[in-house]
Amino acid sequence: MLGSRTIVPIDPLLNDTDAASVVDLCIHFGRYRTYGELEPIEIPEGPGLVQRHDSVMNFVNTGGLHRAAETPRTLAARTSYFREEYAYGGELIAPDIAPFLFSSRLADAARVVHGRSVVEPQIAYANLMVPGQELAVHTDVPEFRGVSRKTVPQWLLVVMHHSGLFDQYRMHIATGIAWFSDLVGGALAYWPDGPAGPMVHHPIHTNTALVLDTDSVFHGVDRVSPVSADAMPPLRPGCGLRAEGDRWIVRGPDDAVLADYRWSELRLSVSWKAYCFASEADRDTWRAHADDLTLDAILETLCADLSERRGERVERDEHLGLALIDEYIRFPVVTPA
Ligand SMILES: [Fe+2]
Repeated sequence: MLGSRTIVPIDPLLNDTDAASVVDLCIHFGRYRTYGELEPIEIPEGPGLVQRHDSVMNFVNTGGLHRAAETPRTLAARTSYFREEYAYGGELIAPDIAPFLFSSRLADAARVVHGRSVVEPQIAYANLMVPGQELAVHTDVPEFRGVSRKTVPQWLLVVMHHSGLFDQYRMHIATGIAWFSDLVGGALAYWPDGPAGPMVHHPIHTNTALVLDTDSVFHGVDRVSPVSADAMPPLRPGCGLRAEGDRWIVRGPDDAVLADYRWSELRLSVSWKAYCFASEADRDTWRAHADDLTLDAILETLCADLSERRGERVERDEHLGLALIDEYIRFPVVTPA
């Protein structure tokens, strides 16, 4: 079994004042970029692969949660949602996020999810989605001692976790997904019993959260509200979303207005991530980099395991990346509603 399947609901998450200040922060933060705007880290074993090649391929091949046969341009518009960080590495980027980042309810839930007592909150980021958008099924990008999304490709980190070969180096991350919108659509779709089990839809309500191991539990987001392919604005990486007066405006890379929305049409979730350690000694090993992985050791281990599974020598060449994604990441099958 991959990771933890324990899921802890929190309702309410914050007191009314702190919940209102999260919404206020979101509105006044400024411009939100699209997720996926950053250039991917490339390695010779996977030239040309995008950051989340695993979930993008699965989305394009299956049509996502709605199994829609749409053009790549429409699929890009549906999944180019907006994200900015409010805290990173335990440091506040936006001071008003402090009650959220250091919420004792989130920390207590994280202890339950991983059964580990030492919890270090690391990250808070906002995801904003507009009508017609959805989030492709995926597991989150995990971390291991010595490697993170800052140093190796995201798809490789996901492969590493799904392979189970690097568990002794894995950072146990608990994720709290908190919602600050009340919408009929945009439910969290997830597979609490693993990819072979049923898909569950969790409706979203403002100031509530679920805390779980999103590195291990497959999840996505149902469409925020129905918008036909023809009516989708050409959202794509490079677009930006910002509150201007009482409207939310999407502008393209050339600053031209592509769409505008009311606040009540948007879906705001704020995600919280914390490292969970079994002990202070466990945390100190991570801090001291006393037992870190290297990229070379990772690829050698994966190559050897794949060779054994196939019963023939697999070369460490430019085809390895796709072969690893194909072998180790088994997505759930979305059945028609
Ligand atoms: Fe996720």
